[in-house]
Amino acid sequence: MTSYDPVVHEHRGDYLSLVPRAVRERIGFEAIEGVAGAEAHPGGVELLFVDSTHERAATLAELRAWEPRLAPGAVVALHDYGHPDFPGVAEAVRAVGQVGKLTGGLYTFVH
Ligand SMILES: C[S@@+](CC[C@H](N)C(=O)[O-])C[C@H]1O[C@@H](n2cnc3c(N)ncnc32)[C@H](O)[C@@H]1O
Repeated sequence: MTSYDPVVHEHRGDYLSLVPRAVRERIGFEAIEGVAGAEAHPGGVELLFVDSTHERAATLAELRAWEPRLAPGAVVALHDYGHPDFPGVAEAVRAVGQVGKLTGGLYTFVH
C-alpha cells in the first residue's frame, strides 16, 4: 500500500508503531500530491482510496490521473461523499460519470 500525502503529519510514526512490523513494512509513504503520485505510478492499482482535499477540481484531477493506472475491476473508494461540508467529492464522481454505492460516508465504484 502506498499513501500519497504532501503533508507529513505529527505523530504519524506513533500511530505506525501500533501495528505489527510486518504491516508497517508493507506501507509506503510518498510526500507528494495524489496527482503527482499517479503520474509516477506504473499502474495495476487494484484499490484506490481518495480522502484528500475533498474539493471538486482536485478530486476530479485525482480521479482522472489514476484512471489509466487502475487494473480492470479495480475498486475506487471516496471518503466523505455526501458530507454537507464536502460537496466537491460527489460533484467529482458525477463529473467522471461513475455510478456506485454509498455505505456510510464511503462511496465505492468498480472500474
Ligand atoms: C481528511 S484528511 C485524511 C487523511 C487520512 N486519509 C486519514 O483518514 O487519516 C485529508 C488529507 O489529505 C491530504 N492532502 C491535502 N491535499 C492533498 C493532495 N493534493 N493530494 C493528496 N493528499 C492531500 C492532507 O494533508 C490530509 O492528510
